Amino acid sequence: MQEDRLVEASSEVAQELNVERGLRPDNFDHFIGQPKLKENLSLFIQAARGRGEALDHCLFAGPPGLGKTTLAYLVAKSIGSDLFTISGPALDKKGDLAAVLTNLKPNDVLFIDEIHRVPIAVEEVLYSAMEDFKLDIILGQGPGARTMRIDLPHFTLIGATTRSGLLSTPLRDRFGINFVLEFYQPEELAQIITQSATRLGITLEASGALELAKRSRGTPRIANRLLRRLRDFAEMSGGVVNAALAKHALKALDVDESGLDGMDKKILLTILEKFDGGPVGLDTLASAIGEEAQTIEDVYEPYLLQQGFIHRTPRGRIAARRAYEYFGKTFIDSKQVELQFQT
Ligand SMILES: Nc1ncnc2c1ncn2[C@@H]1O[C@H](COP(=O)(O)OP(=O)(O)OP(=O)(O)O)[C@@H](O)[C@H]1O
Ligand SMILES: [Mg+2]
Repeated sequence: MQEDRLVEASSEVAQELNVERGLRPDNFDHFIGQPKLKENLSLFIQAARGRGEALDHCLFAGPPGLGKTTLAYLVAKSIGSDLFTISGPALDKKGDLAAVLTNLKPNDVLFIDEIHRVPIAVEEVLYSAMEDFKLDIILGQGPGARTMRIDLPHFTLIGATTRSGLLSTPLRDRFGINFVLEFYQPEELAQIITQSATRLGITLEASGALELAKRSRGTPRIANRLLRRLRDFAEMSGGVVNAALAKHALKALDVDESGLDGMDKKILLTILEKFDGGPVGLDTLASAIGEEAQTIEDVYEPYLLQQGFIHRTPRGRIAARRAYEYFGKTFIDSKQVELQFQT
C-alpha cells in the first residue's frame, strides 16, 4: 500500500518533470526576460565561437525555477556541443568525476547542477580541470604511489546553484562568467505563460495571462505549473482562461494576489505571531514551522526578501512593514529602526 502510494507519487513527479521539459525554451528567442544576462551571454558565446575556443566556464546562481538548467541547455545548443549533466551530490568519488571528464570532447559542455553540494575532495579535482584542463590521477598506494597528469580537452563547465554563498572561493574564482538570475516581472511571466499556453493548446486571454503572472512568485516554473492547473478549471467552464477564471481558480488553489502561497503565509505569520515580529534565527523559525532551514532559505526567503515582506538582520529575520499591513496588523516602527541600524 505504502509502496503503491510511493509509485503513484513518483509517477506524478515524473509526469510534472516531463511536462516541464516539454515547455523548456529551445532557443534564446523563447527564453524570456533576464535581458542583461541574455545579451552578455550571447556575446560571449559568439566571441568564443569566432575564436574557435571553448566558452569560458559559467556559473548560474538563483532561486529554484528561474531558468538555470534551461540556460545550460541553450548554451550547449547554441555552441553546437553535447551537454553532459551531473548532479553535485551524486559525485561522491573522485573517480566518478574523472570518468566524466575523460569522456568529454573539445568544446563540450559539462553541467553540474547543485554545484555547491560537490564534496570537497571531488571539488579539488575540478580546480586543475577547470584552470589548466589537466587531470591528476594517483596510481597505486603508499610509498610506491605516483601521480599521472592527463590532458583534458578544452571544455566548458556550467555550474548551477541556489546557494552561491556556499561555494568555496577557489571554485567561484575559476568561473570566468558569473550570472545571478533575478525574479521575473509580471509582464515577462505573462509572455512565458502565453508561449506555454500555445504549446499546450490552451486558450488564454491576455487578461488571464497577466492575472496568473502576478501571482506566480516571479518564477517561470510556478507560472507554468499554475497554468496547467488553470487548464483543469477551464475545461469545466467553457475552455478559456481569462482573468475571471484565473482569479476564481487561484483563490481555490490558495494563491493570493501577491503570489504568496500557504508556506509563505505560514512563515510570515509565525514571525509575526509566535516571535512578535522577530528577530528570529533561521533554525528556530524552521523548527517552529516544521520545514527544513535550507528549504526556507533557498525556496521561500528570496521572494519574501525581494518583495519586502521580511528583512535579514544580524540577529535574525524580522517582519517588514509590508507583512504587518498584509495581515492587517499594527506596524512597530521603532523595532525596525533599531534592528536595521545594526545591519
Ligand atoms: N526565461 C525563461 N523563459 C521561458 N521559460 C522559462 C524561463 N526560465 C525558466 N523557464 C521555464 O521554467 C522551467 C524551470 O526552469 P529551470 O528548470 O531551468 O529552472 P532552474 O533554475 O534550473 O531550477 P532549479 O534550481 O530547481 O534546478 C523550465 O522548464 C522552463 O519551462
Ligand atoms: Mg535546474
